[in-house]
Amino acid sequence: MTATSIPQLRRVGPVTQLYVDDRPFLVLGGELGNSTASDLTSLDEAITRCRRMNLNTVLLPVYWDRLEPAEGQFDFSLLRGAIDLARRQELRLILLWFGTWKNSMSCYAPSWVKRNTSRFPRVRLSSGEAIEIISPQSEAANHADARAFATLMRWVREYDSTRQTVVMVQVQNEVGMIPEPRDHCQQSERAYRSPVPPALLSLTTGGAIGPEVNALWRQAGHKTQGTWSEIFGDTPEGQELFTAWQLARYVEKVAAAGKREYPLPMFANAALIRPGYRPGQYPSGGPLPHLLEIWRAAAPSLDMICPDIYFPNFIEWADRYRRGGNPLFIPELAASTRAPANALYALAQLGAIGAAPFAVEDLSLDKRQQLADCYQMLAGLSEAILLAQQNRTVIGLCPQIGFDWSISDQPQRGELGGVIFEARFDPPVAADHHTPATVLPTLGVGRWDAPPATPAGGVLVLQLSERDAEFAVAGRGTTLTFSPADGSGKIGIDWAQQGYYLPDGTWQGARWLNGDQTHQGRHIHLPLECWSALRIRLYQYQ
Ligand code: DGJ
Repeated sequence: MTATSIPQLRRVGPVTQLYVDDRPFLVLGGELGNSTASDLTSLDEAITRCRRMNLNTVLLPVYWDRLEPAEGQFDFSLLRGAIDLARRQELRLILLWFGTWKNSMSCYAPSWVKRNTSRFPRVRLSSGEAIEIISPQSEAANHADARAFATLMRWVREYDSTRQTVVMVQVQNEVGMIPEPRDHCQQSERAYRSPVPPALLSLTTGGAIGPEVNALWRQAGHKTQGTWSEIFGDTPEGQELFTAWQLARYVEKVAAAGKREYPLPMFANAALIRPGYRPGQYPSGGPLPHLLEIWRAAAPSLDMICPDIYFPNFIEWADRYRRGGNPLFIPELAASTRAPANALYALAQLGAIGAAPFAVEDLSLDKRQQLADCYQMLAGLSEAILLAQQNRTVIGLCPQIGFDWSISDQPQRGELGGVIFEARFDPPVAADHHTPATVLPTLGVGRWDAPPATPAGGVLVLQLSERDAEFAVAGRGTTLTFSPADGSGKIGIDWAQQGYYLPDGTWQGARWLNGDQTHQGRHIHLPLECWSALRIRLYQYQ
């Protein structure tokens, strides 16, 4: 048997793709709820359900407190069980290291870390009050976390490098300082009053830092040396940069220690910012797009930084994470009725490696079915999508949705192979067409769900042949019309065939659509009820 390289990210043309077994791999993912992987019986049920929903990859937490219950004593039984269950269901895993921080807090630190606040100092607010966040300035915590993570990666290499069930690893989970933009414990105060490290300073003065940080530096008088407040200003925005550097340096030590044992692709994920929020009001200094250059410089062992997109304006946030060539992967997205269409859009339009609705094992029956159908369709199209990502021969179209769930009534357009595709999205059947004004992703039941009038659809168009204007069209709840990109004459439908992409990627044609099904040649319609695929051939006439 020839040895294959371990999973890795590779830049291919305009995109970065995940290679598994030396072939590009599209992550049709789902992330488990936080506690599911702490018990193998619950996990067994969840993993079985994931398989039935046609996922190919599960994102699964590894908890520091379960892994190293006493200092230096490791228990791999949960992880071994998880890998075995995933193998049985032919699923890949992406591990989420719930180490020093999970959603800013240090709730997954083992007791021996949590309870020893003199060895592992806590973040202090400006009032001096300690909170349950381990200070990013704590070298002891950084060392302990890095050692635990290295031990984890060594074990994964020994247990799994031949089978490669585990394909990527997230380091920490949604790190960020809250409810103030920076830590005020003694050690952090000292660091804050020290000069800005030369590596960051030279990025800033050399104009390689990104527009937001550059603006802060200029406002503070564009100095070429000084302390954090002198260089970036003592505002919440300026202080956030100190936190970003501190957090990213800490994560780097952990990631680098893990990579030395087993260099799987690694990433950090971010909780995003609500409109109008200032540092301190959201998890500040995390791997956010305006801090991307700082994270890159401080944490070079990370292969990418990723968004967790719970806000309705999915497209906008996903696109911001492509900044500076950052590979796009969405480890969490709101499991709303829009989740499958958003995932499809990210793959087709934004060249994403993959996406994963959160708490996927708890989806309602209807959402489970929709995700299963969408992923089944995408599985058959995977190879074609991966190739088309490389050649820029695929586009995705989705409704434009704002943070307040406002939906643009303009058709969405994309160009491919000389054709302009114009998409309109079906409103839900029997919808309450009153969009409730107050539905925002706030706390409470259904907090991330789309209001009832939100279209659930989206579509991808993939060019199959340049010469014959042949395309694969796959999606749901969308009507497509066509016009020539060169503005000359019109585009008509030569033929349209419904069918399926089988798991091995071959096309299984079925009905030839015409008459009422194409509105007598005027458009292509993908019904709202189910995800479906068509092959079409278009032609230009005068
Ligand atoms: C984002 C976090 O990363 C997840 O672990 C989870 O806490 C969800 N938010 C919300 O439940």
